[in-house]
Amino acid sequence: MIKSIADLPIEGRRVFIRVDFNVPLTPAKGVADDSRIRASLPTIQHAVKRGARVILASHLGRPKGPTPALSLEPVGARLADLLGQEVLLTDEAVGDGARKVVSDLRDGDVALLENVRFFPGEEANDDNFARQLASYADVYINDAFGTAHRAHASTVGMLKYVAEKGAGFLMLKEVEFLGKLLGNVERPYLAVVGGAKVSDKIGVLENLLGRVDAFLIGGAMANTFVKAKGGDVGKSRVEEDKMALARAFLAKADLRGVEVLLPSDAVAATSIDATEGTPVRADKVPADMMALDIGPQAAAGFADRIARARTVFWNGPMGVFEKKPFAAGTLAVAKAVAASRGLTVVGGGDSVAAVNEMGVADQIKHISTGGGASLEFIEGKTLPGIAALEVAE
Ligand code: 3PG
Repeated sequence: MIKSIADLPIEGRRVFIRVDFNVPLTPAKGVADDSRIRASLPTIQHAVKRGARVILASHLGRPKGPTPALSLEPVGARLADLLGQEVLLTDEAVGDGARKVVSDLRDGDVALLENVRFFPGEEANDDNFARQLASYADVYINDAFGTAHRAHASTVGMLKYVAEKGAGFLMLKEVEFLGKLLGNVERPYLAVVGGAKVSDKIGVLENLLGRVDAFLIGGAMANTFVKAKGGDVGKSRVEEDKMALARAFLAKADLRGVEVLLPSDAVAATSIDATEGTPVRADKVPADMMALDIGPQAAAGFADRIARARTVFWNGPMGVFEKKPFAAGTLAVAKAVAASRGLTVVGGGDSVAAVNEMGVADQIKHISTGGGASLEFIEGKTLPGIAALEVAE
C-alpha cells in the first residue's frame, strides 16, 4: 500500500517533498506555464498548515552540472506568490548552505533546494547523494508524478534512508485517474492518440488494445498507418521502418474487433511553413504535398465519436497545432473532449497545451502533469518512483 501525506504524522517534522517543478521558462527567466507548480499546491499547503518544516526538491531541465539558466530561482519566486509566503532557495541541493537553511526552518516554513540535477549523483542514483538528501528528512513525500518513471536519488535512492514515506495529493490523484483507464470504465471507451511517431505510442496502443472499444489516430503517426494500408501520403512525414509494426497492430486490432479509425482526410501543404493548407483525401495526398493536420471531415467524425463515448483518453496532437493553418484538428478534439460528460483524461505536454489554448482545461476530468510518466503508466509499466513508496500494510 501507499500512504497518503494526510495519514502521516508531519506536525513539527522535517518533511521532504519531491515535486516536479520542471516547468518551461520564458527568455526573461519567468515561469511560462505554472501548471505543475499549482498542481502540487494542495500537498504543500497541507504540510504548511499542519506545521511541517517543508523541504521541496525538484529538477529543472537536463543540466550537466551547475547551469545558472536552469536555477529554480524563478520557480521559487512563483511558488512564493502562489503560497503567499516566503520560499527559501538553497544555494545548492546539498552542502553546508542547504544544511543550514534546513536546520533553521521553523514549523510552517518552506525551503526549496536548488536543482537536484546540478549534481550528477541525482540521475546516477548515487548512494552518497541519496543519503545527503535523506539527512534533511524525517518524512519523505513524493508528489512528482511527472518524474515517477525515473529511478533517481530523489525519487528512489533516498527512500531507504527515511523512516516514513508516502505520496502527496497530486501523485495519488494521477494514480487514481490513470489507473481507472486500465480498469473497468464506462463504455464506449475511446483512445485518441496523436503525435509524430508510432514508435513513441506503440506501447500505449498495445496496452490499451484489450481495453478500449476504438482508437482514433491522428498526427504524423497516422501517415505511417495510412501508408501501411497502401495509401499515398505524398511527402508526409512517415516512419518507413515502422510500417510492419503498424500493419501488425492493425491486424491484431482487427482480430479483436477493435476499431482503429484513421483520418479520412487531411489538411496538406507543400511545406510546414505554408500559410494555408488544402483539404485532401488522407490516402491520396499529392506527391508534392504533406499532411499536416487531420482534415475537416475527420475532425467532425472524431468529435462525433468523442461525443458518444463515456470514457476518453487523449494523448498527442492531431497535427502541427503550433501553426495556425494546421491547428483546427487538434482544437476540434480538445473542444469535443471538453464537452464530454464522461470520464476524460488528457496526458502529455502537447495535448495539454492544446486544452489550455482552448481555455477548456477546467472542463476535463483529469489533466495529467506527466509526459513520459503518463505514457509509461498507460503502457502498464511499473514506475520506480511509485513502486518505491510501497509499504507493508
Ligand atoms: C518531464 O518533464 O517529463 C519530467 O519532468 C521528467 O523530465 P526528464 O525527461 O528530463 O527526466
